Amino acid sequence: MKKKVIEEYNDKLAPLYDKVTKGEFKWIAPKKVAKKLLSFVKRGDLILDLGCGTGQSAESFIKKGCKVIGIDISSEMLKIAGKKHKFWKLYKYDIEKGLKNLGFKRNFFDVVIVVGVLEFVKNFKKIMKEIVELTKPGGYIAFTYELLIKNRKLQSKRVSPLGEGLLKPIPKLLLFKVYRYTSIEIQKILNKNKIKKICNEKFIGYFKTKKKIPIYYQVLIGRKC
Ligand SMILES: C[S@@+](CC[C@H](N)C(=O)[O-])C[C@H]1O[C@@H](n2cnc3c(N)ncnc32)[C@H](O)[C@@H]1O
Repeated sequence: MKKKVIEEYNDKLAPLYDKVTKGEFKWIAPKKVAKKLLSFVKRGDLILDLGCGTGQSAESFIKKGCKVIGIDISSEMLKIAGKKHKFWKLYKYDIEKGLKNLGFKRNFFDVVIVVGVLEFVKNFKKIMKEIVELTKPGGYIAFTYELLIKNRKLQSKRVSPLGEGLLKPIPKLLLFKVYRYTSIEIQKILNKNKIKKICNEKFIGYFKTKKKIPIYYQVLIGRKC
């Protein structure tokens, strides 16, 4: 079957991912999430990491003794994740196809984390509903999203190609989209899904282009009522 552009792109990116995210882009979201969430998590907790990449976000939780199941669309990302960390299980899957098909029971996970992924998912409301279904009552949901900010050129559109704003456009990066939300929109979705907000903080997710333009994200930790 033909690969989705995002899969093809991430397969190519995988061997460089840790180097570029820690270097040039200064991607700090995994550390942000760990700092906010770690104290709520216990050894042995079962965690679902959607879009796990090379395992940057899972690392602290695996070290704490949690059982982390990682899901990613890119087999190359998963290979690296498996070499670097002791994931409980790793599955290749496109989360846009619906989380129900993964076959996990409802109320199964103590924690679901989704870091640096939801900006690439078209139907945020649908996936959030599915994430909440998989989380135990009293369990935690931790995710990041890219902010929609009216007065910032690179973040003022609700949807735009990832490559927009680059000095020299990279064709692949123009082929898939980034979806942005305001904090109020996300809050409404959480209310609908009976998620109590524990933390909601703005941060610079990464720096774009050689001009180092900050791209603002939000980290959200919520608890299922
Ligand atoms: C920016 S990386 C974030 C990786 C990791 N969560 C972290 O914080 O370092 C985005 C990851 O999401 C994965 N991804 C994007 N769209 C996906 C989809 N529809 N289904 C599963 N994984 C997806 C990519 O392959 C990539 O590994």
